[in-house]
Amino acid sequence: MFSAFTSAIILSTLSLHLTSSVVSAAIVSPNLHSHNARHDCQHSKRLPSAAWYQPEDHPAHSLFKRGPDAPAVFADVGSPTWSAPYPQSTPDVNQLPQEWVDALNDAVSAGKIPNIAPTKDTGGNPEYAPGLDPMSDEICSTTWKCRKNPENIYDVPDGIFAISFDDGPLPPANRLYDLLEANQEHATHFFIGVNILQNPKEFLRAFNDLQDDIAVHTWTHPHMTTMSNLQVIAELGWTMEIIHNSTGGRLPKYWRPPFGDSDNRVNAIAKEIFGLKTIIWNQDTEDWSLTSGGTTPEKVNASMTEWLSGPKSPGLMILEHELSDESVQAFLDAWPVIKSNGWNTMSMARVDGGSAYQNADNNKGDVDVQDIIDPKVGAAKPTDPDANAPGSSSSSSSSGSSSSVASASVSTSSKAAASSSKLSSSSASATPTSSQSNTNAAMRDSVMSSWFLYTIIASSVAFGAQAFF
Ligand SMILES: *[C@@H]1O[C@H](CO)[C@@H](O)[C@H](O)[C@H]1NC(C)=O
Ligand SMILES: *[C@@H]1O[C@H](CO)[C@@H](O)[C@H](O)[C@H]1NC(C)=O
Repeated sequence: MFSAFTSAIILSTLSLHLTSSVVSAAIVSPNLHSHNARHDCQHSKRLPSAAWYQPEDHPAHSLFKRGPDAPAVFADVGSPTWSAPYPQSTPDVNQLPQEWVDALNDAVSAGKIPNIAPTKDTGGNPEYAPGLDPMSDEICSTTWKCRKNPENIYDVPDGIFAISFDDGPLPPANRLYDLLEANQEHATHFFIGVNILQNPKEFLRAFNDLQDDIAVHTWTHPHMTTMSNLQVIAELGWTMEIIHNSTGGRLPKYWRPPFGDSDNRVNAIAKEIFGLKTIIWNQDTEDWSLTSGGTTPEKVNASMTEWLSGPKSPGLMILEHELSDESVQAFLDAWPVIKSNGWNTMSMARVDGGSAYQNADNNKGDVDVQDIIDPKVGAAKPTDPDANAPGSSSSSSSSGSSSSVASASVSTSSKAAASSSKLSSSSASATPTSSQSNTNAAMRDSVMSSWFLYTIIASSVAFGAQAFF
């Protein structure tokens, strides 16, 4: 029954892809995601560093610690206790944890979520209502390859081949995992929530055995711009939750929109509510359509050969899938060519020395709240699990945490320095968030001034070294 369900998921994913490719083939527009994506250095940007986007009193910090025993004991991955509480298919927006809905409502009232009407689901590229320009600053649709939102990441630094795969975990990926394991390489896996639910073995292989990065590819793989705000919350939130509860409490830092379909509204929800950064790609072999007649192994080979032997600026972030034997084979075939062309291979999330998680350095060990680095303070947040308990997000400061902020900044300074030395311009200039409490802000000021100087020195040294990234 499970495998029948899995096949249904695979098939429905495939048919979505198929429909998408048929429809997009009929539409001629230079702006849409196409086979020959523009390789534009002007807009290349580096990946953000390891840091919480949100300040410590932001609701995102408490969304996944709802149990009375927070920070929590988690059910065994793959057990019935583990799988039963999740939506088994399309999530019901009337059955969402209240904390997520509250966080959304707060963000909407604070004017942080652009009021853009959801697109119409055409079966192919979603359509905005007449009069709405997908390329405008206000909407900036990633289906239309809008690059005006500087927070969307399309490129990686020169010379780097960023390894990432969409749509797992699924059984065909085992041969891919064998290759990664044998070569001690890592990938970032943008996993689909229901596929995690159905393939816990592959999930655990990627997370535990390979020590690979786990990232978000939504719960059921819809066109996200067609979703209401609540549906967006459900698609992202359940995927965050199952990853959180299956990795000892790690919160992913990255998500990739299915079909590359997002816009300023969806991105804002991902960022404001869940602290997620949006990752797109800069080349697409359309390997996902190998099983549906959309492309052929020869065409994929030709594109890969062209890009791999071409210029190394910017680096390559190719859209690739662990979806089928065919898409996996395409990567296995390309692997020796990636290496022989001298590409510097690494997982997408590790490109900038960063971590795939908002609250941990890697897959091993406990999730240490002191690993959470607030870019606006430059110091780790206080170790006070109670501060993350439900309903306490507005009252998390205390004289006790004041000293823990100060001491945390000392005890983690070398780690923080290591990650801030790779700060990209985007995270260095992260916008202040109004929800930061005044009390916390005041008590951080003293930590901040000395820290800030240190960070500036460390960053400018690093920027000098990496000026040509
Ligand atoms: C995730 O783990 C937390 C902590 O144990 C628990 O409260 C929550 O119910 C779990 N979520 C699901 C969907 O099982
Ligand atoms: C393309 O196919 C040739 C012949 O099978 C193979 O040697 C080569 O590795 C392939 N290249 C890529 C990039 O897949």
